[in-house]
Amino acid sequence: MELLLKNANIVTDKDTYMSDIYIKDGVIVNIDKELNIPNIKTVDIGGKYLVPGGIDVHTHFDIDVGIARSADNFYTGTLAAACGGTTTIVDHMGFGPKGCNLHHQLNLYYDLAKDSVIDYSFHGVIQHIDEDILKEIDEMIKDGIPSFKGYMTYGYKLSDMEMLKLSEKLGKSGGLLTVHPENNDMVEFLRAKLASEGKLAPIYHAKSRPDKCEGEAVNRMIDLTAQTNCPLYIVHLSSNEALEHIKRAKDRGQEVYSETCPQYLVLDEEKYREEDGVKYICSPPIREKSNQEKLWEGIQQGYIQTIATDHCSFNYKMKKEMGATDFRKCPNGLPGVETRMPIIFSEGVSKGRISVNKFVELTSTNPAKLFGMYPKKGSIQIGADADLVVIDPNLIKKITVDDLHENVDYTSFEGIEVKGYPVMTISRGEIIVENNKFTGEKGRGKFIKREAFKF
Ligand code: URP
Ligand code: ZN
Ligand code: ZN
Repeated sequence: MELLLKNANIVTDKDTYMSDIYIKDGVIVNIDKELNIPNIKTVDIGGKYLVPGGIDVHTHFDIDVGIARSADNFYTGTLAAACGGTTTIVDHMGFGPKGCNLHHQLNLYYDLAKDSVIDYSFHGVIQHIDEDILKEIDEMIKDGIPSFKGYMTYGYKLSDMEMLKLSEKLGKSGGLLTVHPENNDMVEFLRAKLASEGKLAPIYHAKSRPDKCEGEAVNRMIDLTAQTNCPLYIVHLSSNEALEHIKRAKDRGQEVYSETCPQYLVLDEEKYREEDGVKYICSPPIREKSNQEKLWEGIQQGYIQTIATDHCSFNYKMKKEMGATDFRKCPNGLPGVETRMPIIFSEGVSKGRISVNKFVELTSTNPAKLFGMYPKKGSIQIGADADLVVIDPNLIKKITVDDLHENVDYTSFEGIEVKGYPVMTISRGEIIVENNKFTGEKGRGKFIKREAFKF
């Protein structure tokens, strides 16, 4: 399989330059001006941007949350991802049965993910800590799973003692601890209080998980991992309150990384007051508008390293609407895997908040580096996988569910106009999306064995 790309405006996290690219057997073999190779498929990129394929390190495909199963499985989810310019996902495995070991979920997920159309990996999920789990972490890392998620809320929340033991182990073994930070007691207390006052409309979902709920948990994790010398990665950062804790920790030299998501950058809590406000229920909730510019500042200043989606889609009809009159009955999570790249390009690059190189850093290079895939993924260089996306920076589109491939009956970003959109997606040298049409094969994605953590 050979492919020649002509006249590409190549963008990496550091450089922007015009060149041609020659790809063979899925890998970039040459990058040079005026490459001419007869009798192979040749595509003229016409000066549009060619960026490393997007890497979304936070999805939940085919997840069963007890009250509902997600609308997207690994086939529909990765197909949608590809149409939106993403060529690799790292999925957060869901909880398994109580007491199960780590490989129980890994083996299940190998099977769930087999129809993926782009490359994929998983984060381990920690439900409890004992000696067996701590030992098994080494096996998981050998199996190519160096990152693990611990929850501070939900059914399998970890105690501070468990977080200490887990982070000590990960710090020593080259693992990365990713954390869902919310103060569980605060959530439970506020939920009960709001319910007793009859305050169960969608806006009270946000009120039951205020900024301080995230801030306290982030700060606690920062202090806990300072005792164990473990790098910490905060997922789905949503508030300035929590960002301020991260800034202080980083400024005093602690290894803390963070990820935010498009919903926290472009949506605000007034959405919960709309008639279909239940569509926006996710945890942490979308916030008061003033947080958005603070998060953009955190991105610009390097306190936030990645932008992922936390794609966890449930249909509005019959699923999200179960919570219309009682937010506690709504399955938590939003779709977004297909719209991340265009929204961040448009809100970030087209609106002048970030450079196109920073866009690449946030959506591809940093995710690859933090999660053990660089430079095979997240880069445009000789020897790297030819995971590439063409972005037309002048293409203007209004996001609408009708144009998207996500298997869900709404998008949280309906009606948002974007300038700049992916027009071609190449995965390991194969053109799998052209002008919003998927042309690849079901099951062509491969499991990526990731390396131990270093950044
Ligand atoms: O509401 C959300 N974010 N659902 C997905 C699970 C999680 O907490 O990441
Ligand atoms: Zn989470
Ligand atoms: Zn999540």
